[in-house]
Amino acid sequence: MKLVFATNNQNKVNEIKSLLGEGVEILSLKDIGCNEELPETQETLEGNALQKARYVADNYNVNCFADDTGLEVASLNGAPGVYSARYAGEQCAAEDNMTKILSELDGKQNRESKFRTIVALILNDEEHFFEGRIEGSITHSKSGSDGFGYDPIFQPNGFDITFSEMSMAEKNAISHRGKAVAKLVAFLKEESPNSSL
Ligand code: IMP
Repeated sequence: MKLVFATNNQNKVNEIKSLLGEGVEILSLKDIGCNEELPETQETLEGNALQKARYVADNYNVNCFADDTGLEVASLNGAPGVYSARYAGEQCAAEDNMTKILSELDGKQNRESKFRTIVALILNDEEHFFEGRIEGSITHSKSGSDGFGYDPIFQPNGFDITFSEMSMAEKNAISHRGKAVAKLVAFLKEESPNSSL
């Protein structure tokens, strides 16, 4: 089975390749000659993941999946959510996004939040969705220097360190994306029982 991962993030491609073994061949956008910016104009994670996967499936005639992730902060009514990448403005850096959240939560008791990832898969023109989530809280200041995005201010429940202070393996084992990808991998293994997975 050949499957395109509709992302420009090579780290994500490598991660899923290592999880799937040889039964499923994962191709990147580059592998299929797609250098376009994929449309991502929906107002939900599900909508965006599906929009990206659908665009590639339809225009390149392939089976394909895409992911979309958001940080949802309870006392900000679920913001930044689908706008997580550009919360502090179109060209903003991760630092700006974190600073904005910390100042919006200043003085607020409830710091509950969660990361949610949706993977949308289009396989033989059928749509499938896989969700992974991790609950936690927003810290009072940035802590740690590893990872990316909101990692320095997100502390998963049951831990006294942020995502940014964990090893990559430790984070992947409990993360939103890790869980969504694990569900996708389990589904693909069921779909291709005769493969060498
Ligand atoms: P994407 O859909 O994977 O591109 O994620 C959208 C945005 O959510 C990113 O630009 C980050 O700001 C944030 N994000 C996604 N995953 C993580 C994570 O594992 N840690 C911290 N921030 C993340």
